[in-house]
Amino acid sequence: MQEKPDYQTLGPIDYLFNRFRKIRNYTTKLCAPLAPEDFVVQPIVDVSPPKWHLGHTTWFFENFILVPNHKGYKLFNKRYNYIFNSYYENAGDRILRSNRGNLSRPLLKDVLDYRKHVDQHLVELIGKLDLDSPLLGLIELGLQHEQQHQELLITDLKYIFGNNPLFPVYQENDGDIISEFSRETCSTNYEKIDGGIYQIGHQGNSFCYDNELGIHDVYIKEFSSRATLITNREFLEFINDKGYENHNLWLSEGFEWVKKHNITAPEYWFRKGENWVNYTLTGIKPIVLDAPVCHVSYYEADAFAQWKGERLATEFEREVSSKKIDSAGRWEWTNSAYLPYPGFKKADGALGEYNGKFMVNQMVLKGASTATSIGHSRPSYRNFFHPQLRWQYTGIRLTKNN
Ligand SMILES: [Fe+2]
Repeated sequence: MQEKPDYQTLGPIDYLFNRFRKIRNYTTKLCAPLAPEDFVVQPIVDVSPPKWHLGHTTWFFENFILVPNHKGYKLFNKRYNYIFNSYYENAGDRILRSNRGNLSRPLLKDVLDYRKHVDQHLVELIGKLDLDSPLLGLIELGLQHEQQHQELLITDLKYIFGNNPLFPVYQENDGDIISEFSRETCSTNYEKIDGGIYQIGHQGNSFCYDNELGIHDVYIKEFSSRATLITNREFLEFINDKGYENHNLWLSEGFEWVKKHNITAPEYWFRKGENWVNYTLTGIKPIVLDAPVCHVSYYEADAFAQWKGERLATEFEREVSSKKIDSAGRWEWTNSAYLPYPGFKKADGALGEYNGKFMVNQMVLKGASTATSIGHSRPSYRNFFHPQLRWQYTGIRLTKNN
């Protein structure tokens, strides 16, 4: 986790310098436990190799900030646009997402040199900026983007190691780099949230993504939210009650997914004799019963809520309840489809592709996870994933009607 630099004492430019260095260094620090062989693996299309994350976040700064704004800037390698462009049609042709794991070249050393080259020029550029420069906002976007990839880097690494039969250990002790075992007090308390008309969306001048804008009123009926996340102990009761086999609990698509992939437990859970164990960043460990259940899909979260006779919150309910109930270290599936807010406007050009074009067939998640950088999330933050995906730190909070 990173310290939060003090905006007030440093002033905007020094604050940005400080923040830029810390965030960029944190990405490479996350890779410190890796061996060269670990940097290239792509076990499934959703998981990108660590080397690609290192290059892509650097390309983002180079392509969107340095190339158009830093006079005389020379590309580190003009062929990198093809391999490190992720999904920006406006930025030209690119390697297929599924082929990122084929990139034995460039060497890791070359990608680290690329990072140094771009960082050096970014620092030069920041030094020349006026306080009212629009580039300050663009650089902040680059940093927020880097933080999103830091979280992906951790979850992708976990998937790479957690699907290697040797189950490599990323960190010796929980908390050396990432704390996975945040414990919730096992409680079934509920917080009542008053009904009424609430303003939804990001307010104020601080950074937000375009998908949080378009502030609008939403009527919310009084409801109650569980004060704590669902624990492994509770999820185990669902498993032992044959929850995965009871089609009455499942959405049709969800039950098809369970049958097709023979799903019997959250991602990374394995049977060891009579007991369940799970892969963690510290290796295979017994399930911590009082920790929040993690690595579940939307389908599992919804089926679990059905089993309890309750439901998942809408993204609007969860934004409102965040004033009373903090997130406890897991992204929480909501039952809201990821759609544009009324008044949503995407930016012109390539950066308009950042969020808007993904607003179909995905569900919104609220909160933050143990892998989310400090200060990166907020109540209006809208994370989104396809309903079957579960390699992120995704958990369950229940809601009930009053
Ligand atoms: Fe990206």
